[in-house]
Amino acid sequence: MPKVNLLLGLQWGDEGKGKIVDIFTAQHDIIARFQGGPNAGHTLVFNGHKHVLHTIPSGIFHENAVNIIGNGVVIDPVIFKKEIENLKPFNLALTERMVISRNAHLILPTHRLLDAASEASKGKAKIGSTLKGIGPAYMDKTGRNGLRVGDIELPNWEEKYRALAEKHLKMISHYEVQLDYDIQELEVAFFEGIETLRKFQLIDSVAYIHKALSDGKKILAEGAQGTLLDIDFGTYPFVTSSNTSAAGACTGLGVPPNQIGEVYGIMKAYTTRVGSGPFPTELFDEIGEKIAQVGNEYGSTTGRKRRCGWLDLVALKYAVQLNGVTQLLMMKGDVLSGFETLKVCTAYKYKGQEISHFPYSIDEDLVEPVYTELKGWEKDLTQIKSANEIPSTLQDYIAFIENYLGVKMTYISVGPDREQIVQLN
Ligand code: GDP
Ligand code: IMO
Ligand code: MG
Repeated sequence: MPKVNLLLGLQWGDEGKGKIVDIFTAQHDIIARFQGGPNAGHTLVFNGHKHVLHTIPSGIFHENAVNIIGNGVVIDPVIFKKEIENLKPFNLALTERMVISRNAHLILPTHRLLDAASEASKGKAKIGSTLKGIGPAYMDKTGRNGLRVGDIELPNWEEKYRALAEKHLKMISHYEVQLDYDIQELEVAFFEGIETLRKFQLIDSVAYIHKALSDGKKILAEGAQGTLLDIDFGTYPFVTSSNTSAAGACTGLGVPPNQIGEVYGIMKAYTTRVGSGPFPTELFDEIGEKIAQVGNEYGSTTGRKRRCGWLDLVALKYAVQLNGVTQLLMMKGDVLSGFETLKVCTAYKYKGQEISHFPYSIDEDLVEPVYTELKGWEKDLTQIKSANEIPSTLQDYIAFIENYLGVKMTYISVGPDREQIVQLN
């Protein structure tokens, strides 16, 4: 029986997952998002257009594949409607190409307000959330209060909505923060979004996926965020509220572990992070600034500047272990062209002792990165098409990473465009 291949981020998100899902869609019949929500921003660049997808899976531009929004996803109907509208000029057969799990949870306007109230009340300790209501929506899911997509088909749907929204409004009033909002206006937009959702086929996704598998269909599961933002394994509490690691694909789609095939681990050639939280290899100097500018490191969802730093192999090794990565794909090597030397973190000094595993906390007062220096490359990589054009120092950089992580790298990406990808031998 064919397997479900899994593609996910190995760092703090924005590794370039969307680009690779788009490319790999050609070899799959189904693309399935399994967790997260509109906190994600997946960028696809081709034919001179740049598309940023938040809820819609990144296979949407290909006619050969069906896209599933899986049960583990949280959907904001307002953002979903906007995404659909953004795609209108491209005349895609959206209602044929995309189906939605009835078990996916809904983000209510009041979830967004609760997110804002919670963040504001935390002051300096804020998570740096995308303010899309992700935390509160997953809290309602695990607290067994959430509303699911299938609920919009029930006769008492509006009643259910009202009960939860009222509860949220009471909760919001307990926060000692001032929020400016017009609930009626927010609800009009929400119910318009629900009408957009109704245009799509709502599915019992476990049955759908298992039938597809027994029919011989090839599935690619698309992760959002990155392993270090995982609710269980990330840099808690500065994480998101879902399992972004491999286990999330099992629970977010209803696929058993023995049906997982390849695990594509997406990594940048350096590290970035957006939002708050520890980041041992962060650069505060002109090198970090140069990476941010050349790499155009601004958030796809919020426009916030991403923090940049050297590659952290200790953290990556942890991500490789957790996910069972079978193939590495390194993005944005082109951004590092022109540095004489590059640093990679190969150990942490933790409470004064050198360690090579990812500890309970990587707070800056506990962890100091230990670096190995490698030679950089001058060559502009953005035009290279084949592995034999890769400069020798980049080959060494790749070999060093493969050796440290014990996994083969199969592709490098050398620019944002769909065409800027090189398969390694
Ligand atoms: P995702 O959330 O993992 O899908 O990644 P994002 O789309 O948020 O961020 C990746 C950014 O890097 C986007 O702006 C992409 O267009 C861009 N990008 C992807 N691959 C490359 C690459 O190899 N080189 C460069 N320079 N940019 C890339
Ligand atoms: P993609 O899929 C990068 C970060 C936020 C914040 C933390 C919690 O594009 O890689 P949340 O809104 O989830 O409560 O925010 O997680 N974050 C991301 N950072 N890429 C993402 O998604 C992210 N989704 C959430 O910045 O630090
Ligand atoms: Mg992103």
